[in-house]
Amino acid sequence: MHFTVNPSNVHDAAVTVPGDKSISHRALMLGSIANGSTDVSGFLAGEDCLATLSAMRAMGIQIEQAGPTDIVVHGRGLHGLDRPERALDLGNSGTAMRLMAGLLSGQAFDTQLIGDESLSSRPMGRVITPLLAMGADIGSEAGRPPLKVRGNRTLTAIEYELPVASAQVKSAVLLAGMYAEGVTSVVEPATTRDHTERMLRAMGAEVETSGHRISVQGGQALESCSIQVPGDLSSAAFVILAALLSDNAEIVIESVGVNPTRTGVIDILQAMGADIRLENPRLLSQEPVADIRVRSSAMRGGVVDPGLVSLAIDEFPVLFVAAAAARGTTRFSGIGELRVKESDRIAAMSAGLRALGIEVDESADGAVVYGGKFTGGDVESFGDHRIAMSLAVAAGSSRGPVVVRDTATVETSFPGFAALMASLGLNIESNTA
Ligand code: S3P
Repeated sequence: MHFTVNPSNVHDAAVTVPGDKSISHRALMLGSIANGSTDVSGFLAGEDCLATLSAMRAMGIQIEQAGPTDIVVHGRGLHGLDRPERALDLGNSGTAMRLMAGLLSGQAFDTQLIGDESLSSRPMGRVITPLLAMGADIGSEAGRPPLKVRGNRTLTAIEYELPVASAQVKSAVLLAGMYAEGVTSVVEPATTRDHTERMLRAMGAEVETSGHRISVQGGQALESCSIQVPGDLSSAAFVILAALLSDNAEIVIESVGVNPTRTGVIDILQAMGADIRLENPRLLSQEPVADIRVRSSAMRGGVVDPGLVSLAIDEFPVLFVAAAAARGTTRFSGIGELRVKESDRIAAMSAGLRALGIEVDESADGAVVYGGKFTGGDVESFGDHRIAMSLAVAAGSSRGPVVVRDTATVETSFPGFAALMASLGLNIESNTA
């Protein structure tokens, strides 16, 4: 599949974006090991979360589809999962595989976790190391999938200092900690998204957070609850970018999750001169939510605060495009983690922007983007959903037509992306050939 995008301008609108991916994965996993039925509304029915849904079903969990984005997860308690008959295929999803590695380490049966080509090349040593220290037994292909998680192990609590800021690793250790004897603690080098901690608390577990240390006592029962999943800020970021890059648009994106562990993208864009406001702040199922109002803005480059990297980790493709459209030079540093996402995002965005006429210097863990004007061209997404969507939005403000290649994975996180962007005025066509 590919996108063909022609020069366009988005117009005023009020929209919603699909549900939060991180929260949807967690609702499935925690709902499955809670006692009772968890109602989830606003669930992200994208391929990543559907892979987690199939995996939980394969382990005996009944999950009803009550509506297009409404599901009911019939939890069976901490020890209610059954051995799946075959390997669990987690598709493109690093979150599913890493969190599942933690959850399955505490089960009484063996499992095998597999994924697509991109996931099969991603590092899993970062979850295997702490889980082995807890007594788990996990085999891998030199630290990459497939993972063989052997069950019937006695897990012991550990205190683990994360070598990289990663919510996926933190969550894997906390999930295994639910099955361990004693109090498991994780110490983060920088704050990462805290959806696991919030949902565990919403389900009645005690989770202590003190500075960068998060602790959980093993063996606590979880009680089902209702979860209203907010719109995904990581998806809203593409709409925000489209509005910022247009001549004169004002877009309101309603009911978006604005958990402070996720809002780095807003802080960075505002520092570049973006007119973005959060309105009507409220709490939905223990998660901060707001409507986001964004107006077209002339942005300027600068030095991006490396202290915000872990709070904006998925939005750097969007930020690279903003930097390319800004006046002056933008310097990114401390972003080496981008090299092990669904693609090497520093390389992928540098290549994509260069193909659109923008000058970019790359380093091992940073980049310098020189603001300019986008030309038309042919760009690769490297099968990475966020690269595809970022370049598609950039393409709308280019001077000629742009083809974005290999866009099928957009379905992993943002089903309906092309239709939504087209409804805003982006001149985009999604072609199956
Ligand atoms: C996620 C954590 C982040 C993020 C990913 C979702 C999560 O990964 O990039 O898209 O749901 O916990 P890391 O924790 O590995 O940085």
